[in-house]
Amino acid sequence: MRRAIYPGSFDPVTNGHLDIIERGCKLFDEIIIAILVHPEKKPFFTIDERRELLSEVLKEIDRANCVLRVDDFQGLLVHYAVTQRANAIVRGIRAISDYEYELQMALMNRRLEPSIETVFMMPAEKYSYVSSRLVKEVFQLGGILDGLVPAQVQRRMKEKLTKG
Ligand code: PNS
Repeated sequence: MRRAIYPGSFDPVTNGHLDIIERGCKLFDEIIIAILVHPEKKPFFTIDERRELLSEVLKEIDRANCVLRVDDFQGLLVHYAVTQRANAIVRGIRAISDYEYELQMALMNRRLEPSIETVFMMPAEKYSYVSSRLVKEVFQLGGILDGLVPAQVQRRMKEKLTKG
């Protein structure tokens, strides 16, 4: 049983995240998509909204026989990974610029918990510039996000903007 944690802020989930999850499904029997609860940050979507959106969009991806679960966590990622009896942490690497930070995290996590491996995966080239941060910025300045985030996510972002 190969179980991986795919951690992140997912604020919001992008097509790049879904691409990584789909690829991860070829390697793992179960992937837990784990949303970091970050008390100091002011997110666009609440944890509950992110959980709900993730669960919704995961229904549409090609998961083969892989079990996908959405959860949230606080504190150290490796502690959470151990409680979930995970073998690996999956992280997406888009460009060399991601690598430095990701390498530091992977090595720190390995020092803290040597039993858990970090697996880096590359998304499709068409998502190599897509990040949640840029998606929010483009959206807040009136740009269209077609093809960058699932339609439900774009719809919920618009709803949130109009409702305040
Ligand atoms: O999507 P993000 O924001 O790039 O994800 C970053 C995340 C959640 C993977 C990272 O911030 C994290 O693991 N935070 C949990 C706290 C922790 O374990 N810190 C030590 C990392 S070496």
